[in-house]
Amino acid sequence: MKAIVLAAGLGKRMKSSLPKVVHKILGKPMVNWVISSIFEAGIKTEDITVVTGYRAELVEELLPEGIKNVRQQEQLGTGHATIQAMETINSDDQILVIPGDVPFIEPETLKMLVRESAEGFEAIVLTMKLDNPAEYGRVIEQNGRIRIIEAKDASPEEKEINEVNTGIYIFDSQFLRDALKKLSPNNAQGEYYLTDVVQFAKKAKRVILNDPQESLGINDRVQLSKAQRVAQQRINHKHMLNGVTIIDPENTYIGPDVIIGKDTIIEPMTFIYGNTTVGERCNIGPFTRVFDSTIQNDVTIVRSEIDRAMVHAHCSIGPFSRLRPGAVLLEEVKIGNFVEVKKSTIGKGSKAQHLSYIGDSEVGENVNVGAGTITCNYDGKKKHRTVIGDGAFIGSNTALVAPVNIGKETVIGAGSVITEDVPDYSLGLGRAKQVNKVDRYRKSEKGE
Ligand code: UD1
Ligand code: CA
Repeated sequence: MKAIVLAAGLGKRMKSSLPKVVHKILGKPMVNWVISSIFEAGIKTEDITVVTGYRAELVEELLPEGIKNVRQQEQLGTGHATIQAMETINSDDQILVIPGDVPFIEPETLKMLVRESAEGFEAIVLTMKLDNPAEYGRVIEQNGRIRIIEAKDASPEEKEINEVNTGIYIFDSQFLRDALKKLSPNNAQGEYYLTDVVQFAKKAKRVILNDPQESLGINDRVQLSKAQRVAQQRINHKHMLNGVTIIDPENTYIGPDVIIGKDTIIEPMTFIYGNTTVGERCNIGPFTRVFDSTIQNDVTIVRSEIDRAMVHAHCSIGPFSRLRPGAVLLEEVKIGNFVEVKKSTIGKGSKAQHLSYIGDSEVGENVNVGAGTITCNYDGKKKHRTVIGDGAFIGSNTALVAPVNIGKETVIGAGSVITEDVPDYSLGLGRAKQVNKVDRYRKSEKGE
């Protein structure tokens, strides 16, 4: 089975400068929801072709490695888009065609269509019944032939029909190739409609979807927000039923690919997106965002931002901490308020509790990074590394000017600017010696 994803359209009704399918639902672009579902239905990466067009590069940069891609230079309709994709398909496999704007289609539904296709139909159309069929194409079966009439081309009687086209089909590839040649843009929108090929099929079938929620197309931002609500409820319910406490599900946003262990508690106004895994017995939030990160068991994160970081067990983060890409915290690390960590590994049991920046660094075990410590990693042109040995104690308000090595079990005096390496077991001081001028103030007050 091959698959074609139609994602070249602008999505006029979104009123956006971005292509419709790059708009995100719970942190995941719409087109990636569709692709995930196709994968889960068992279709391989190299068998999927995505048609891009309007601002194509913005869609293409989202596509998983190995997926095929063709460009539709002008958006002349869904039929025209399919013709472009057919150029990449030269086997006799059957072809699943699916729009890029139906993010919630279940893999089970696609699998069911694939099973149906074993019976050798020229065309299978997935339909649904709606109380308000609105702008969807109306589906009619007469004398064994199926016809789809776009709402804009439908007569008042045809508009009454409430069985509509989801835009998802399976075609026999030879049939599709021939039928596409017969299309003309002779319709209300002046487009080559993919829907028009269905009437040519002598052996065609309608499959009605039980739950229309699954294939509601997203065309404007109201539908986008409703879709997000529906997905949010479904995902949060799944986690709660798996043993995760979500204090306020309406104000907790978890992406579809996130994994959370049991007895973890998610506090309100928390966003967990991307390829994130959270372990067991964690406490995340309130007011926290986590992207593409791994959080192991028994971790606490309060009011913080975590992006592409790795946090081992028993760490405590926040409030007001920021872990940026490449931050790795080994076990039992404490990162406190207004501390930023980037591209750095922090060893077991180490602490940076207040007002620090740790970048491009390797911090050993049981290090104490005093309040206000800054790794000066950037000289205006290049980034440099800081290495801090096990058991070091960095006094408050220290500037570590990289590249620099701080040995193990060293002490750095508060307020130091350290520009040279400090050997193991040493005290490093880099500040002006204090001078006391006794009685100086009293004398000047008397005017002497
Ligand atoms: C389409 C169907 C309609 C169905 C509905 C279901 C047609 C003519 N109509 O209408 O019967 O009920 O989907 O959601 O197919 N696209 C391209 N190139 C183009 C035009 C569109 O790639 O030239 C892509 C879009 O990016 C989108 C998908 O095709 O992802 C569907 O296009 P859209 O304009 O949303 O079609 P609908 O009007 O919703
Ligand atoms: Ca649509």
